[in-house]
Amino acid sequence: MRIDAAYDAWAPSYDSQLNRTRDLDAQVARTLTPSGPLALLIEAGCGTGKNTTHYAGTSSAVLALDFSAGMLAIARERIGLAQVQFEQADLQAAWPCVPASADRVCFHLVLEHIADLVPVLGHAATALKPGGQLIISELHPARQYRGGQAHYLDAAGNPVPVTAHLHHLRDYLQAIAAVGLQLQAVDEHWHAQDDRQGPPRLLSLVAQRPG
Ligand SMILES: C[S@@+](CC[C@H](N)C(=O)[O-])C[C@H]1O[C@@H](n2cnc3c(N)ncnc32)[C@H](O)[C@@H]1O
Repeated sequence: MRIDAAYDAWAPSYDSQLNRTRDLDAQVARTLTPSGPLALLIEAGCGTGKNTTHYAGTSSAVLALDFSAGMLAIARERIGLAQVQFEQADLQAAWPCVPASADRVCFHLVLEHIADLVPVLGHAATALKPGGQLIISELHPARQYRGGQAHYLDAAGNPVPVTAHLHHLRDYLQAIAAVGLQLQAVDEHWHAQDDRQGPPRLLSLVAQRPG
């Protein structure tokens, strides 16, 4: 199944099914981006808007992009804020924004669905102002090595995996450098219910466009 169609199918249950990765990411988003005020934040792959309300509190304007009509419909219904503009867009094509206009670009649980990181991070780098910040929070590669992958449960309760691509830590670091951004921070995150002796659940990276 195409990835956008899979998310259309997942959309009605995305916020209600048990999902510790989703819940941990909401905490990570709030930790990594505690305050503003910024002028423009772009949320790449906003989904149902789990992090969008938080981002609207940190920025005068939020451009929230996603290619799943089903996910966007829920986000639009959930978030009726005038400063948030939702756009249906494939992150692998040119982004519907003015170059060098964004103070921050955020990816949360999106990049496992992107085969080649460089073009997409290149669009993010193009969107950022000099000095602007890139935030990434993704399924940790150590989880991917063990078969971890975004998936939802169908009506019968069977897991349906969504097409995903393995990205090693090195892939993220090399892609960030390749698009001309400077790495500022790398971290790993465990959910409160995770075994801390096991692999981290999320990998986060912060980078900046040189000013
Ligand atoms: C696991 S959801 C995460 C949504 C939200 N960021 C969150 O943390 O809850 C992944 C989202 O990325 C979107 N997505 C994946 N690949 C995309 C692409 N190439 N262009 C636009 N959106 C994409 C999906 O439609 C989906 O809404």
